Amino acid sequence: MVRKGDRFVVIGGGRVGTAVGYLLAQAGRSVAAVACRSEESLEKVREYLPYTYLTTDMVKAARKGNVLLLTTPDDLIADACVTLASAGVVKRGSYVVHMSGALGLDVLAAAEEAGAATASVHPLQTFADVRGAVRKIPGSVFAVTARDPRTGEWAEDLVRLLGGEPVRLEEENKVLYHLGAVLASNLLVALEHAAELLYQEIGMEGEKALKALLPLIEGTVSNLRRLGTERALTGPVARGDIGIIRRHLEKLEEEGREEHLHVYVALTRFALDLAEAHLSRSRSQEIAELLERYT
Ligand SMILES: NC(=O)c1ccc[n+]([C@@H]2O[C@H](COP(=O)([O-])OP(=O)(O)OC[C@H]3O[C@@H](n4cnc5c(N)ncnc54)[C@H](OP(=O)(O)O)[C@@H]3O)[C@@H](O)[C@H]2O)c1
Repeated sequence: MVRKGDRFVVIGGGRVGTAVGYLLAQAGRSVAAVACRSEESLEKVREYLPYTYLTTDMVKAARKGNVLLLTTPDDLIADACVTLASAGVVKRGSYVVHMSGALGLDVLAAAEEAGAATASVHPLQTFADVRGAVRKIPGSVFAVTARDPRTGEWAEDLVRLLGGEPVRLEEENKVLYHLGAVLASNLLVALEHAAELLYQEIGMEGEKALKALLPLIEGTVSNLRRLGTERALTGPVARGDIGIIRRHLEKLEEEGREEHLHVYVALTRFALDLAEAHLSRSRSQEIAELLERYT
């Protein structure tokens, strides 16, 4: 269990670190220090944590607490951990946690060697700013990975303290887990960009293209929420309209739009996977063969 007397230190007061510090303080916990690289960023943290010790020296910050939350950019977590462990500020019995979705616990090896319990707690959400993170962290699913069952329970408790819903994740599955998140979020944005580019070409200039697409995107998300992936799928694949799929493919090939063609073929295969239960075997087979010709 996270104890009432635990003192939290945030190393990396950015979007996630500041919001987590704020939510912990709101929950009545002691947020003893926050470290950032620049004074400018510390000023922003001050708006959320006016009574917390703020510094650009992560070692000084870490001295103040027994639970260290490493919320720097992912590439810096291992180095930050080594810096703290070699400075002797990671104590036996303390906790060192990171919040990256892709990284395992190996990046916290230096803290483990120093006798700390290590874990990662990753909110399955996207945060563009601190305000959004404060709003969205409560209610988010968090993937919890820990070295041992006791630390796992402790980390789950930490997630609940933030208002999140913990889900256990084995360390070896972290990369696949993160790939799922990237497909569902970052590459969904990239996919909307692919659609936006086509619309801009046919006369919807600048932001008009996305504006036109947004109600469709929102309708799709709403269907996903209500009906799940299989029933939310509409369009030519769901209907088995092979003539339309053929037209799309021919057009993309004719105009040499290779990137769009690759994406279309790959995603139509996943769509076919969802639609198969509702299509005749022969129609599914025809669509699969058509796609094969464009691979
Ligand atoms: N944003 C998201 O959507 C999201 C979602 C889930 C998980 N996460 C995870 O949350 C973690 C933090 O991400 P973020 O988006 O909050 O990053 P961020 O907004 O870029 O913040 C990173 C912070 O780390 C600080 N920092 C960098 N080097 C430092 C150093 N040597 N000493 C002290 N502070 C240092 C930066 O300070 P300066 O500003 O002064 O450079 C900055 O405040 C990452 O592991 C990320 O994978 C993020």
